[in-house]
Amino acid sequence: MCGIVGYVGCNLAYPVLIDGLKKLEYRGYDSAGVALHAGNSLEVYKKEGKVANLEEYVYGKNIQATVGIGHTRWATHGVPSDRNAHPHLSNSGGIAMIHNGIIENYAQLKEELVLKGYTFKSDTDSEVLLNFIEDIKINNECSLEEAVRIALRRVVGAYVILLIDTDLPDTIIAARKGSPLVIGIGENAHYLGSDASPMLAYTKEVVYINDYELAIVKPDELILKNLGNERITPFVQKLDMELAAIEKGGFDHFMLKEIFEQPQTIFDSLRGRMDATIPAITLSGIEKIKGKILEANRIIIVACGTSWHAGLLAEYVIEELCRVNVEVEYASEFRYRNPIITDKDIIIAVSQSGETADTLVAIENAQKQGATIFGLVNVVGSSIARMSDAGAYTHAGPEIGVASTKAFTAQLAVLYLVALKIGQLKGTIENTLFNKLLEDLAKVPEHVQHILEDQNEHIREVAKKYTDARDFLYLGRGYNFPIALEGALKLKEISYIHAEGYPAAEMKHGPIALVDESLPVVFVATKDPYHEKIVSNIQEIKARKGMVVAVISQGDEVIPTLADDVIVVPQIHEIIAPILSVVPLQLLSYYIGLNRGLDVDKPRNLAKSVTVE
Ligand code: F6R
Repeated sequence: MCGIVGYVGCNLAYPVLIDGLKKLEYRGYDSAGVALHAGNSLEVYKKEGKVANLEEYVYGKNIQATVGIGHTRWATHGVPSDRNAHPHLSNSGGIAMIHNGIIENYAQLKEELVLKGYTFKSDTDSEVLLNFIEDIKINNECSLEEAVRIALRRVVGAYVILLIDTDLPDTIIAARKGSPLVIGIGENAHYLGSDASPMLAYTKEVVYINDYELAIVKPDELILKNLGNERITPFVQKLDMELAAIEKGGFDHFMLKEIFEQPQTIFDSLRGRMDATIPAITLSGIEKIKGKILEANRIIIVACGTSWHAGLLAEYVIEELCRVNVEVEYASEFRYRNPIITDKDIIIAVSQSGETADTLVAIENAQKQGATIFGLVNVVGSSIARMSDAGAYTHAGPEIGVASTKAFTAQLAVLYLVALKIGQLKGTIENTLFNKLLEDLAKVPEHVQHILEDQNEHIREVAKKYTDARDFLYLGRGYNFPIALEGALKLKEISYIHAEGYPAAEMKHGPIALVDESLPVVFVATKDPYHEKIVSNIQEIKARKGMVVAVISQGDEVIPTLADDVIVVPQIHEIIAPILSVVPLQLLSYYIGLNRGLDVDKPRNLAKSVTVE
């Protein structure tokens, strides 16, 4: 996620900003920059890559400013590059701005500004917002503060913005909605940050800014207002957190933080793309290759690991809703086979990092044979994103824990949208089902929140019982089968316990021989048309003295009478339910790994991005 810093005080701003940006590096980023007040003008320095690149670039410059803003960018609109890095300068050069978040209606605002003669140096939504603010300031002959207030009333999306203006030599204007902003109070100085880590070395007194608040920050004064221009009394808190705890958002591990971020990240991946009230889906990537999709004989999903599991679920969903042939391929196999590919094939490449070597080569080969590539990637501007003919970003933000959690649920959320959109274009999905699925998808963030609040402690207790198991079996049928595979993979990675995922009915063709009183079997058993069958499978395990942990739907009265432990998730349409069922399994793996004293964020032998074959 982007990181922001700001400083207004009596000391040199640049060292404080650089130090702050380094503290925010843990959030993940692809470029960095600073803007500083230099007498009557603003100086902007920005570079793609690490903060160290920026330092090298600025080395030897004599920067005397005592007011400045800085940014680490995690690309959302526009590839990582020097020109897309923040801060941006307004058309007049009089205002510099950094932004963390997404402006959903930027295209409309940009159109209006282009008609007025504004030009843009970057591909970002942020530069549009900045010039929109400048335009209001000029036309209304008002202060920057007033212009920001007017602009934000028209903005749809999420933001934290920090602005400096040549007309206000000792001031930073800041505002937030949906993205975090903290202001630290120092001696004749104020520090601004996405979290408290950049200011911890200078002060422990901070004010957490709320949504729809605007701050006017000077060395010796902090004025807080709402967007209606009414003053708000800042609530000053004393920090008692250490740096490491702040980076992890107060959680013990990045993995846990990322599991708990899922209500927000799923919301972010759906945001601006669906409206359950109309109901409609907007996916420009699908629109772009609409003709190819309508003519396609086949969709091939190519991915590795957890992303492959997302692809497997997508196969079930797309075949059901779009009535088109779908195949799911391990990229590492696909690239070395000699598959029959034609220009009537659509390849969906699913990848968190966008850099997985096997997936990259697999789609390169397919593209050469005429296939159209649709990339479903988390990291903006990554190799797979650049190679794709069209695509959709998953917008989960940087995933730091090596085991994928929030990236997986974001992949599922976007794949649901892809399936629904294609089904609608092809006319293969009935309106009532389309509306129901969209409605249920819109509820997923709140349902995930409910699971996290309601089941976390219970899952921690359940994990204690099974921490010393030697093997695990994960079983599911239909849409829940890919989740059984993902649950088993998470457990293997995090706890080093051998775990296998199987289709529940396949069990009697072999794995049932493993079942005895020492084998925990995790059933993904939310309500669906085959519910009675999975109940029979549970009975079969219990008859052989296996231990059963079941993820079930709220209201299920049968499985609790059979299973040793149940984890309850809200009842939702069976197609959407897997995005909920996986969350308890992530937590179960996390707590078992933790109980075994393992490094859950960096499991042995694993890399976050597998750029070698
Ligand atoms: C598992 C995990 C890996 C990745 C796989 C593909 O938790 O993270 O299995 O899913 O290496 O990586 P991406 O999605 O970056 O292509």
